Amino acid sequence: MSLPNGRLDVHSYANPEEIRVRDVALDLDVDFGKRILSGTATLHFERSDPAADRLVLDTRGLDVARAESGRGQAWAAARHEIGPADPILGAPLSIQLAPGDDRVRIAYATRPTASGLQWLEPAQTAGKRHPFLFSQSQAIHARSWVPVQDTPAVRVTFEATVRTPPDLVALMGAAGNSTGERGGTYRFRMPQRIPAYLMAIAAGDIGFAPLGPRSGVYAEPSVVARAAAEFADTEKMMAAAERLYGPYRWDRYDILVLPPSFPFGGMENPRLTFATPTVLAGDKSLVALIAHELAHSWSGNLVTNATWSDFWLNEGFTTYIERRIVEEVYGPETSGMEAVLGRQDLEDELARLDERDEILHIDLAGRDPDEGATRLPYEKGALFLRSLEELFGRARFDEFLRGYFDHFAFQSITTADFVAYLRRNLFDGDRAKADTVPLAEWIDRPGLPASAPRPVSEALARVARAAEDWTSGRTETARAAFPNWTTHERLQFLRRLPSPQSVERLRELDQAFGLTGSENAEIAFQWLLMAIRGGYAAADARLGQFLASIGRRKFIKPLYEELVKTESGRARAREIYAKARPGYHPISVETVDRIVGTPA
Ligand code: BES
Ligand code: ZN
Repeated sequence: MSLPNGRLDVHSYANPEEIRVRDVALDLDVDFGKRILSGTATLHFERSDPAADRLVLDTRGLDVARAESGRGQAWAAARHEIGPADPILGAPLSIQLAPGDDRVRIAYATRPTASGLQWLEPAQTAGKRHPFLFSQSQAIHARSWVPVQDTPAVRVTFEATVRTPPDLVALMGAAGNSTGERGGTYRFRMPQRIPAYLMAIAAGDIGFAPLGPRSGVYAEPSVVARAAAEFADTEKMMAAAERLYGPYRWDRYDILVLPPSFPFGGMENPRLTFATPTVLAGDKSLVALIAHELAHSWSGNLVTNATWSDFWLNEGFTTYIERRIVEEVYGPETSGMEAVLGRQDLEDELARLDERDEILHIDLAGRDPDEGATRLPYEKGALFLRSLEELFGRARFDEFLRGYFDHFAFQSITTADFVAYLRRNLFDGDRAKADTVPLAEWIDRPGLPASAPRPVSEALARVARAAEDWTSGRTETARAAFPNWTTHERLQFLRRLPSPQSVERLRELDQAFGLTGSENAEIAFQWLLMAIRGGYAAADARLGQFLASIGRRKFIKPLYEELVKTESGRARAREIYAKARPGYHPISVETVDRIVGTPA
């Protein structure tokens, strides 16, 4: 399936059908004063079309000083041209090649506004003394800091030399991360082929603590111990995933806990998951996020969506595997609760989304691929796999998935590739069962098949009853049980209360359960939503502080959306946002600008 011009990916200008980049070597200076990365990118390529004489790369806002091409050690200046910039895609960089060339070298610098980088002032860090930098390349932001073929269909190895101020540390999603030594020059090598969206860099005052023989955690020094305690089960998760789906193929698994402006919960950068500090709840109750990012080491990083229309192959599989890992490490009660909450999220999302966004194999032509990143590919995809597990039996389905990862290891595949593999390796063995699978409904149609699994959890059903009791004035069950409830049960209780609640009822809840003071970001978020809806002014200060200190889009987007629904709320949103915006990541800024408007 390719586009009329031969391209497979509508979100890239690159021409991998003619010339394919195989290796990238970076040599970059990190300039915190100017907020730029500058240096060179050397790209080795192979021609699939021997006559091809032009390499086309993706860029967004890169300042290209010079391009050279060559073979071996011989370099010559190369004619290059940057085409017109598209608001979503950025601009193509075309480099003219001589017949025998197999490499190009590009001297370039990023801009301070690069969409894939966030430069933090010392005040935005835990330590307050040093600046911090981190990247977020998915979906198409790698092109804002490296000139590359920025399509997940192209995989490269890479190496990098990165220079920082001598007292800071640079890390990459690669081999070579320092566990103590500083000095300002760092060398990395990524021997496994990865797509550009998995390239990652960070720099700052960063410490390390080991978690196990092949895992550890990086964070600002004052956060390291807390992070290590929270993620103490990482090795167990790795062992569980390996039992299910085969060897971990990336050597080490480390986690970098970022400052709170990180716009996502987590990002599966290979060998070095990037994570929000809002998962540090103190009781491991939010570590499904680590199970999720670790699961991407199989679904996503090993077997990769070839285009952003196939995003569900990354996230649906990963959500399914995340719950299998949680089941192995924390038991079926916990994973069962997560499945129930996941189906709730899906139904909320289905109530909001356009039909075109309810399709797993989504059409994103002309759109920003980030628009496809709703809960739908995660939860509908996971339910689809769960339905196959239930139909064919766990033993058979586990064997199928393991074979799938081996078969497509280190490849990028489309939905059609998966479906063909599914038919051959699962369906053909049991036609009677296969005939009952509404495959087209799952993959190409909006909504959910009627046969979609409905996960149940005894514990959450009990909590739902307590919420009903509370609503009808019998508050004793919840008062007695809340202190012993897990985070998932508390979330279920809050979600199950009708909304809006009156100010008096909100005060009663707050007094009983100390919700405004909750340090658990998920609970605080759920509570603040209810507080806005019910006009509960006693939570105003906490809301302002939450929005000013956390940039995680999953939390701030719904809160701003809720605020702007009323006149006074809109004014408050403007006031809070004016202060918070300079600290938000470009991705979160773009989202919140759309909700609140750009401050004058
Ligand atoms: N790969 C995603 C994050 C992502 C998706 C970034 C699309 C940019 C575009 C990551 O694995 C993820 O799904 N993170 C979730 C957490 C997870 C536990 C559901 C998040 O950040 O909320
Ligand atoms: Zn994910």
